Amino acid sequence: MIKKMKGTEDILPVAIKKWQFVEDTARDILDSYLFKEIRTPMFESIDLFSRSVGETSDIVTKEMYDFKDKGDRHIALRPEGTAPVVRAYVEHKLFGPEHPQPLKVYYMGPMFRYERPQAGRQRQFNQFGVEVIGSTSALTDAECISLAWDLFTELGIGNLVVYLNSLGKTEDRKRYRQALIDFFEPVKDQLSEDSQRRLYSNPLRILDSKDPKDKEFVKNAPIITEFLSPESKAHFDKVTRLLEDLEIPFKVDPYIVRGLDYYQDTIFEIVVEDDSIGAQSTVCGGGRYDGLVEQLGGPNAPGFGFAIGLERLMLLLDEQAIELPIEDELDIYVMALGESVDCYAFKLVQAARKVGLSAEMDYLGRSMKSQFKTVSKLKTKLLLTVGEDELNANVVQLKNQDTGKQTTIAMKDILDDFMKVYRQNTMDTKVIDEFFKGE
Ligand code: HAM
Repeated sequence: MIKKMKGTEDILPVAIKKWQFVEDTARDILDSYLFKEIRTPMFESIDLFSRSVGETSDIVTKEMYDFKDKGDRHIALRPEGTAPVVRAYVEHKLFGPEHPQPLKVYYMGPMFRYERPQAGRQRQFNQFGVEVIGSTSALTDAECISLAWDLFTELGIGNLVVYLNSLGKTEDRKRYRQALIDFFEPVKDQLSEDSQRRLYSNPLRILDSKDPKDKEFVKNAPIITEFLSPESKAHFDKVTRLLEDLEIPFKVDPYIVRGLDYYQDTIFEIVVEDDSIGAQSTVCGGGRYDGLVEQLGGPNAPGFGFAIGLERLMLLLDEQAIELPIEDELDIYVMALGESVDCYAFKLVQAARKVGLSAEMDYLGRSMKSQFKTVSKLKTKLLLTVGEDELNANVVQLKNQDTGKQTTIAMKDILDDFMKVYRQNTMDTKVIDEFFKGE
């Protein structure tokens, strides 16, 4: 038997309503913030990621799904969504006056990273992300962080905190980088293998090492805050002030650095306070990437964005036992008593569907008893029953499953009533009885 590839998951029909609820909730919030969806390809030239995410980042050096296609092009399955959005921004000149500025876009979909799979860490996983391109304002930073926060709040997810840091501008980081090298160099031999390797290529990554040996040294390492220019400091202060005004709980943590190279100034992560979803406790990460658009051949346009890991968000919903208000009731079930009336039943089902009601019937010639089980499993509101007698008299037996009221109505009336019910846009029990003359 062929099985799914390691690190991938099937999202089965039983779980899909939950995913769709989360996606719909996100879309409602995005509408209120005036973000528009963008859909970029699942694969891109590998250069796009090495030039943005970074030649020395784990994502590019270890985790990329890359291959040569039949035309000998070196391709990568996208490991993240920011670089593709920036590529599209440059390629389609979305900075032009005919486009609203700043550009505010979002995406939801699969990303690919060759990582060691565990709970909350997959090789194909789904991100919901946003990008704002064209604004240097601290308002944009706060707007995005608040948007991510709103989604978690709206879904009822608690126990989260925003970790915030500023990486300053390139110049600040250059000085900080050197200070870190000077600090770690004398103890190089005592650092973990990964950190030794990173010392000259990407010393900032030593700061978020999980290795206890490294952590001991990191405690006394210089912090970025001391290297920030007055502008970066003022920008960061404004972001924190705005978050305070919005009452979003945050902690400034000078040791968060993020695993992608394109960031400067504000960076943030939203983390679960306890370890309820295991080691993968970061549900959202993002920040400012002011040099990236230019780096990818575009104008000098600043950017800010984030991405939420949707599998991790789903784990949190389960872990915190959150019941989503998912509508999974069936409006109408038509029960055909025997094959001789199944065409008649089918006509009713289709008439209901045509006006926008949800309707179902049996396709497997099941007994009445087993159809009744389906009726209750599907949480049916209205049960229509047709047998030979009904067919001959051109009528339908109708039962409101909520109130228990039963009535017989003419086939010609029921189609009108379906339409009326639909126009009222309700399957409220009282309205059902009124329309179907169940009094
Ligand atoms: P990232 O921190 O690499 O940032 O990923 C964002 C989120 O995606 C993580 O916090 C996590 O929840 C989820 N995630 C990452 N890798 C996996 C995985 N292997 N399995 C499951 N979930 C995962 C970015 O991707 C940036 N593009 C975010 C951004 C947008 N920055 C600016 N704009």
